[in-house]
Amino acid sequence: MNTMTNDLSGVVAADRAHVWHHLSQHKQYETVDPRVIVEGKGLRVWDAKGKEYIDAVSGAVWTVNVGYGRESIAKAVADQLVKMNYFAGSNGTVPGALFAEKLITKMPGMSRVYYSNSGSEANEKVYKMIRQLSHRHHGGMKNKILYRERDYHGTTIGTLATSGQAERAKQYGPYPDGFVMVPHCLEYRKQWDVANYGERAADAIEEVILREGPDTIGCLVLEPVTAGGGVIVPPKGYWERVQEICKKYNILLHIDEVVCGVGRTGVWFGYQNYGIKPDFVTMAKGVASGYAAISCTVTTEEVFAMFKDDAADPLSYFRDISTFGGCTAGPAAALENMRIIEDENLLDNTLRMGARTIANLQALMEKHKVIGDVRGAGLFCGAELVADRVTKEPMDEKRVAAVVADCNANGVIIGMTNRSIPGLNNTLCLSPALIATADDIDAITGAIDNALTRVFG
Ligand SMILES: Cc1ncc(COP(=O)(O)O)c(C=O)c1O
Repeated sequence: MNTMTNDLSGVVAADRAHVWHHLSQHKQYETVDPRVIVEGKGLRVWDAKGKEYIDAVSGAVWTVNVGYGRESIAKAVADQLVKMNYFAGSNGTVPGALFAEKLITKMPGMSRVYYSNSGSEANEKVYKMIRQLSHRHHGGMKNKILYRERDYHGTTIGTLATSGQAERAKQYGPYPDGFVMVPHCLEYRKQWDVANYGERAADAIEEVILREGPDTIGCLVLEPVTAGGGVIVPPKGYWERVQEICKKYNILLHIDEVVCGVGRTGVWFGYQNYGIKPDFVTMAKGVASGYAAISCTVTTEEVFAMFKDDAADPLSYFRDISTFGGCTAGPAAALENMRIIEDENLLDNTLRMGARTIANLQALMEKHKVIGDVRGAGLFCGAELVADRVTKEPMDEKRVAAVVADCNANGVIIGMTNRSIPGLNNTLCLSPALIATADDIDAITGAIDNALTRVFG
């Protein structure tokens, strides 16, 4: 279905002349047109030239979880905007209250929702809370934040200080103090030759804690499944040990669900795959599937209580505001987004289609020696490409990019690790909308099959 009727060459020219695209080297647009996406329906999008694509990455960065063209979300947002579009978050709003209530029903053990408008901002809120708790409750100690190699938590200077992806952070320093990296847990690129790899990788966190001093550390931030850093599902035994270590040293656990949150791994939140109890959970992308900007920083009642314990002290509460955290479009869209996931059983579909994606990619391993590893959870899946299966030498990223380009040329948008880990931008990423059908999944992996044949023979 292509509903385009008008000549959009003027739009493309305007974009080429004036828009500074995210994460893009613009030299290329001196000779080719930037792609302008015009329309979407379900899993499909159309560009300004009328070309149709299957979008296997939900808006390129794993956001449009319920698919394009959802009139019911658009209507919920429109109705809300006409009634009350905005009021600062020091007040309540109807959709803000109702979505918080609904969200907490999906997160046993959590209790408070702080609204802002991007994943980076949601994570920054936690970092600020940790710093304030340090001042108020730990005499300035316990202010350090641990983050993990290969994880990503955002684009601001504060969140880039917790970038486990060196290429993202490079050239934007100097960074603030008090952020310390712990080793990654990707067994395929193992750092320890042991049978219980998950526990060993978690023990490496304890080693950093002991080196820094437990009294200096307030929080550990982790992605439940590392997304842009290479689709890393932590090995068995990892999470139980992480939880134990956090408890032992009184370190708060912050799970960054900006990618995994609201269904992506086939459960509401990625951490719920592992039975752990976080102190902070942040989320953004899939919360309203990109129909409106919204992010949430969710905490327990215990954490929340520490910010209201001294009403006589004018500095004791969380003195933070996010102007656009008061936009009602976000929670209005989020409520309808969650209803859709429930009513259409999209969590079940995600589990089934995720298993199909992994099975298809594993089948491709038989045929294409260039696939070194296949991994994923729900509908966040990846295939790491290598030059040699035995040595695991990473495939040159230009050739990985050629696979992505070939899929694009043939109408399937896929992703890859991008300006992330030096020398390791070699993992293809798939994260279609949670509505994907078996035919969609087969079309996506079929395009990868053909692309691998064309690029590598
Ligand atoms: C795990 C994770 N956390 C945080 C962010 C930052 O979110 P935003 O781009 O909305 O600031 C991202 C973005 O890709 C992410 O993948």
